[in-house]
Amino acid sequence: MRKYNFYAGPSTLPVEVLEELKENMVDYKGMGMSLIETSHRSKEYDEVHNDAVGLVKELLGLPDNYKVMFLGGGATLQFTMVPTNLMIGSRTADYTITGSWAKKAYSDAAKLGNAVAVYDGKDNKYTELPSEVRLSEGSSYLHITSNETIGGLQWQEWPETGDVPLVADMSSDILSRPLPVEKFGLIYAGAQKNLGPAGTTLVIAREDLLERSAANNPTAYLDYSIHADKNSLYNTPPVFSIYAVMLVLKRLKALGGLYAVEKVNREKAGLIYDVIDSSNGFYNCPVQKENRSMMNIVFTMENEDLEKDFVLKATEAGMVGLKGHRSVGGCRASVYNSMPIEGAKALADFMKDFAAGK
Ligand SMILES: Cc1ncc(COP(=O)(O)O)c(C=O)c1O
Repeated sequence: MRKYNFYAGPSTLPVEVLEELKENMVDYKGMGMSLIETSHRSKEYDEVHNDAVGLVKELLGLPDNYKVMFLGGGATLQFTMVPTNLMIGSRTADYTITGSWAKKAYSDAAKLGNAVAVYDGKDNKYTELPSEVRLSEGSSYLHITSNETIGGLQWQEWPETGDVPLVADMSSDILSRPLPVEKFGLIYAGAQKNLGPAGTTLVIAREDLLERSAANNPTAYLDYSIHADKNSLYNTPPVFSIYAVMLVLKRLKALGGLYAVEKVNREKAGLIYDVIDSSNGFYNCPVQKENRSMMNIVFTMENEDLEKDFVLKATEAGMVGLKGHRSVGGCRASVYNSMPIEGAKALADFMKDFAAGK
């Protein structure tokens, strides 16, 4: 029996996608070999690759002046690629430090230029997002982390940046809701949460920012303009991951796209937050209500022993991955696009029963 998987990433995938991968693994559509054994320049892979790119464009309603890339190196490599390509002039760039992931992006950028922390949530222990962001003089871009996977915060409204490009790490909430893409200069997201298995990172870049890459002249792999020119086939792409992403996106389209998935995501998160909020303090979510994440729901209990018991009993009941990140403790339920509503209901019921039994 499949478990309800609340891991933060790698994370649950639709069973239909796993079945399709299995079916095609040994012999891809009569080729006599699998897709991961054929050339990444074969017509079979080409079709998969272009379908993945096309589905991203279609689902997001991407304007023509944006390019879609599938790169390697995880979202972590983007912490380097963004400043390497996009810092210009005085090499000043603004960062909002909203939690662990934003902090990592900032610290890599600080090695490459003048990264400025225009917001740092350390005084509120990273439980709140800024209500306003003031940009630095001559800023090359503003970087935000749209969803903090560890802290459980998610931006609901986007900062106004005027002519300064807005760059977002959307690793843990990409394609979970409709997005006004035209507000962003560049978006990146590791695949292993909402998109598919680990291995590829989706990068969406506005064309004028690709010109900045060429001007910064980074080494080939770090240069966005090369990847965009070559349709992400400058070097061997992570073909398996991209194939699986394509299947996940095809299913997302069939389910009705971003408006439909957002509705279900709100419902799933609502079920769990409702239990937390009506538990008379048995469960506590430290995040400011309006900044709560629909993807990663963090909560604590009175003490660690209780949390350990919760995770153990939930695991016995077929719900895995509920332990909070080792850096912050507590519990965390990740309810990405592919978590079925039944999983969120099962967890909400379990949480109610667990609290009632104490
Ligand atoms: C918001 C965010 N950014 C970046 C990363 C790093 O991604 P990767 O492990 O693909 O490098 C993660 C990983 O969980 C993440 O959640």
